[in-house]
Amino acid sequence: MNLACPKSIPIIVVLLAIIVPLSHSEIPFIDSFIEYLEPWIDIPLFISTILDYFEAIYYPLAIPEDGPIFRDLANTTTMFLKVIATINMPPSTQIIDQRPAGLFLANVADKVGRASQMENKIIIQYLNDLAESTYQTGKKAEKLFSIGAYLINRIGNEITSIRETLSLDMTLSRRNVTFLSNRLNKLLFQVTEFRDQFKAIRMAIDDEERIWNGTQYGINSFYDVEKYFESIESTGSKIYKWKNIVNNLTIFKLGCLVTFEARRGIETALKITEQVRIKFIQTKDVIRGLNKKKIVRKIDLINLQGVEMLTEAVSVGWAEKDKSKIIIQ
Ligand SMILES: *[C@@H]1O[C@H](CO)[C@@H](O)[C@H](O)[C@H]1NC(C)=O
Ligand SMILES: *[C@@H]1O[C@H](CO)[C@@H](O)[C@H](O)[C@H]1NC(C)=O
Ligand SMILES: *[C@@H]1O[C@H](CO)[C@@H](O)[C@H](O)[C@H]1NC(C)=O
Ligand SMILES: *[C@@H]1O[C@H](CO)[C@@H](O)[C@H](O)[C@H]1NC(C)=O
Repeated sequence: MNLACPKSIPIIVVLLAIIVPLSHSEIPFIDSFIEYLEPWIDIPLFISTILDYFEAIYYPLAIPEDGPIFRDLANTTTMFLKVIATINMPPSTQIIDQRPAGLFLANVADKVGRASQMENKIIIQYLNDLAESTYQTGKKAEKLFSIGAYLINRIGNEITSIRETLSLDMTLSRRNVTFLSNRLNKLLFQVTEFRDQFKAIRMAIDDEERIWNGTQYGINSFYDVEKYFESIESTGSKIYKWKNIVNNLTIFKLGCLVTFEARRGIETALKITEQVRIKFIQTKDVIRGLNKKKIVRKIDLINLQGVEMLTEAVSVGWAEKDKSKIIIQ
């Protein structure tokens, strides 16, 4: 028969050995510590209290009485939202609509060109692949905008929760610190989700640009497609209104170029998002050391309120992008 105890038993014994004598203490500091053991049904809070208590002994954090933590948080979040707001990605529907145009052009090449010719086969393949690839990019953009609009709302909610926890000249309690630290965790999660969406769309655009380049088809990008259509114009104009074909070529091409251009904005957003993640991780660490600190100033509350208003505006803009069908000029 195995009589070995689970590993956690000795740890609990040790903790009790420390806590029980302390609970009879008359020292005010210890008493206030014991006060936080009261809701000890709340296990995570209980554990974080114990951990923070020992951490406070071994790693005392020097927080200035007027630490600008919440102003910094407002500033970081504002910076993030401003970058998000300036992403110049075309609406997803517009990117998705490139696919039928690309497939139509491939079909024209198929009907008009001489199917036996190698060049004809390559152009058809190229246009088909590019059309499918724009569809993939469009789907990723759709996801980015719909998840993004939702995430921006969530970020606004977390900032509201933070602001509502704070009041002018308050002294932060352990409970407040734990609550705020949890809010920061949520913010971190939301920004990380944004980063992953940015990475996904960047990858889709890279795939599209690789096809566009034409290296794997042995052609010189879309330039060769335009040249090819010029070469079949005399035959093709007997079947199609050639002006329409040329327009379709131009619009399809422009759609691709606008997407490639947007990639730069995504790249910038990705960089800022990484910086914001690091800032949030640091802020969370600082907040953990704020127990009994009195650092909330009026300007903190005002700035946080400003962030809430900004999230609303940016979120509306993103939701619009997901639905609207703005035509590229
Ligand atoms: C954030 O802080 C920096 C300096 O630390 C400042 O230059 C910038 O304007 C601030 N941004 C906002 C939105 O407050
Ligand atoms: C902040 O701390 C006070 C005192 O412990 C408590 O009454 C209040 O509910 C706390 N607020 C939050 C949101 O944790
Ligand atoms: C496409 O080709 C150009 C040069 O023609 C090159 O600079 C660029 O890196 C290529 N892009 C991709 C995605 O392969
Ligand atoms: C693209 O081609 C289709 C079919 O010929 C045509 O109906 C449409 O008007 C063309 N688009 C443009 C912008 O010319």
